[in-house]
Amino acid sequence: MKQFISYGKQWIDDDDIAAVVEVLRSDFMTQGPKIGEFEKALCDYTGAKYAVAVSSGTAALHLAVSALNIAKEKKGITSPITFAASANCFLYNGMKPDFVDIDERTFCMSPIELETKIKKDKENETGVVIPVHFGGQSCEMEKIARILGRDDLTTNSKGPYIIEDASHALGSKHENGKRVGSCCWSDMAIFSFHPVKTIATAEGGAITTNNKDLYDQLMVLRTHGITKDETKWKIKDRDFTGPWYYEMQELGFNYRLTDMQSALGLSQMRKIDKFTARRREIVDIYNKAFKKVEWLSTPYEREGLSSTFHLYVLEFDFKKINKTRTEVMNILKEKGIGTQVHYIPVHLLPYYREHFGFKPGDFPKAEGYYGKCLSIPLYPKMTDEDVQRVIDEISALGE
Ligand SMILES: Cc1ncc(COP(=O)(O)O)c(C=O)c1O
Repeated sequence: MKQFISYGKQWIDDDDIAAVVEVLRSDFMTQGPKIGEFEKALCDYTGAKYAVAVSSGTAALHLAVSALNIAKEKKGITSPITFAASANCFLYNGMKPDFVDIDERTFCMSPIELETKIKKDKENETGVVIPVHFGGQSCEMEKIARILGRDDLTTNSKGPYIIEDASHALGSKHENGKRVGSCCWSDMAIFSFHPVKTIATAEGGAITTNNKDLYDQLMVLRTHGITKDETKWKIKDRDFTGPWYYEMQELGFNYRLTDMQSALGLSQMRKIDKFTARRREIVDIYNKAFKKVEWLSTPYEREGLSSTFHLYVLEFDFKKINKTRTEVMNILKEKGIGTQVHYIPVHLLPYYREHFGFKPGDFPKAEGYYGKCLSIPLYPKMTDEDVQRVIDEISALGE
């Protein structure tokens, strides 16, 4: 029986295991030195000034929106082709969700559609925009920042805040050569380190920013809204305070990443470029094979970008092969090949339909894409044999 090839998978080596075991043998399982070291590694790699490691990408999104302190009546905008968490973060913060349709080639938020939406927003209702670097490919961030009036990124510029959802994109570069996470066109960027992502810490995530005020706020919110910084204490009575003392000054959360996970993240960071190189190698092999297949469309990468390719999404002409997507997925599963759909358009999830009135037809490009997409296996540990097996089984679907 041949091994099952899933659509995505972590790559854990002995050095990753040793790094975690070292923490287990130390005095600190959480809140030890590793979280700071991991954050420094994220800064060094992305070029951002500050990084805050948290317990998941979802927690990163929640905290990032919270840190902005946006009025509740404002709207948050993201792409419909993403995981629900990219929009749920607006709801955690009491804001209204909205979406901007995708660009049909990149599957990322379309700057043209964004411009149309922003022009209609005469009351300046939009508080924050979250472009999603879908599959690892960075969005057209310079254009997006310009459309939002945020290209100088000063906090007193008038447009909505920008948070990049870079859950798929640690390892990718923007067209200016800077790394995703450098926040060259955003207030913050968030990452996920779920096992199928480009590095794994089991659950885990991070926020990067160049803004010291946002960083300070994120650090407080990550730990219950508590500050131990004496200079910031509100109660000055020295009989009440002391070396044990801390102040909870606002409602925060326990979103810390453990030291075990941070050690794993640090170890994985040493291999991120190797992981990306292998992902891109596989993408080249897939592209060559599938470009010849007339009922398949291969992923498009914008000129000058370097995507880490978290996902390899094929668009199928299911009619041409006389099979439904369910049939295709089942046939491939029987052959030992896992596939997945990324994503069900968020506005069509029942919660969003029932609570916010979204309906089919609201974002036609996202919905059209949803009818055709299928992510096929892509992870750095795939062997050349695995890759060939996937190519052969997919090509055979048309026979
Ligand atoms: C685009 C996107 N945003 C956010 C998340 C949430 O990340 P996590 O699973 O680490 O909470 C995911 C996870 O799949 C994602 O794909």
